[in-house]
Amino acid sequence: MRILSGIQPSGSPHIGNYFGMMESAIRLQDEGDAFYFIADYHALTSTHDPAVLRENVKNLAIDFLACGLNPEKATFWKQSDVPEVTELAWILSCVTPMGLLERCVSYKDKIAQGVSPSHGLFAYPVLQAADIVIFDSDVVPVGKDQKQHLEVTRDVAQKFNDRYGEDLLVIPQPRIREEAATVPGLDGRKMSKSYDNTILIFEETEKKLRKKIMKIVTDSTPVEDSKDPTGSYIVELYRLFASADEVSEMEESFRAGGQGYGHYKQQLFEKVRDHFAPMRERREELENDSSYVEDVLAEGAKKARAKAREVTDRVRSAVGM
Ligand code: ADP
Ligand code: TRP
Repeated sequence: MRILSGIQPSGSPHIGNYFGMMESAIRLQDEGDAFYFIADYHALTSTHDPAVLRENVKNLAIDFLACGLNPEKATFWKQSDVPEVTELAWILSCVTPMGLLERCVSYKDKIAQGVSPSHGLFAYPVLQAADIVIFDSDVVPVGKDQKQHLEVTRDVAQKFNDRYGEDLLVIPQPRIREEAATVPGLDGRKMSKSYDNTILIFEETEKKLRKKIMKIVTDSTPVEDSKDPTGSYIVELYRLFASADEVSEMEESFRAGGQGYGHYKQQLFEKVRDHFAPMRERREELENDSSYVEDVLAEGAKKARAKAREVTDRVRSAVGM
């Protein structure tokens, strides 16, 4: 089974990225042939400063390795080291109906957020489809917001097969972890860097992490009153880190009353801090060993490119080149 996923280097990853995509990817590296990459071509749709892009790629590579991506098990590279995907994206764009892209909500959302509507942004899902099919991927672990892009990929791959020959491209399956489908941010909306409501995996300091967690939005139920745990963002986030028993304990304590929200935020803070502590340590080691990180990406690129060439050759020949 080929497992593939990508993540854009568009700033420090947050715990929505972690539980939505990174952690599933890391867990899946034990279950098949895992291929993970840093989507720097995609990041060009929003990052226009070359120094920033370079820095973001390097930092994201360190973050992902620190979180447990194991290069002995998974192939890890940066997208632009396999330029064949852009060729495949062009070929796929010639079987992609305009209407399919016009319906994509992420394009409409980005425009609404003020991102300039470039052709790259519009064609983004076609490049993503190429990323996936170029490795004959079976399973793609992503957060829920990528579901539509996976549907586009499946549609485009099927259209290609319909036109040029059944079984030319593998039709992939998304893998979305239901409990972490949408991790809420500090304000209760989807955690996203566009909303400025994130908790980063690696906040600069413990103090900063605590301060952010203390900002989680709550209602104004007085300390002594019973509180409803359903719909509380504190409980929702706690659930990602704590055992089932610990979650039940917090829920009972909510209902019993007698504690303010600050108390529960402190509990959540301690869990988040402890969960990422070993990864933070590993991150510091990796930061001081940039040649190791570069070697991992170079080695990954070599392997990924060999596979990409194989599928690109198959496709070129199928379309008449
Ligand atoms: P952002 O919304 O912060 O820009 P991205 O769109 O770069 O995040 O998402 C990268 C990956 O993380 C994708 O697989 C996406 O589905 C996942 N992801 C992002 N935010 C969340 C969230 N709040 N909950 C679950 N998964 C998320
Ligand atoms: N669009 C994805 C995101 O924003 C990143 C991505 C690019 C991706 N290519 C991919 C994810 C291929 C999975 C498979 O998160």
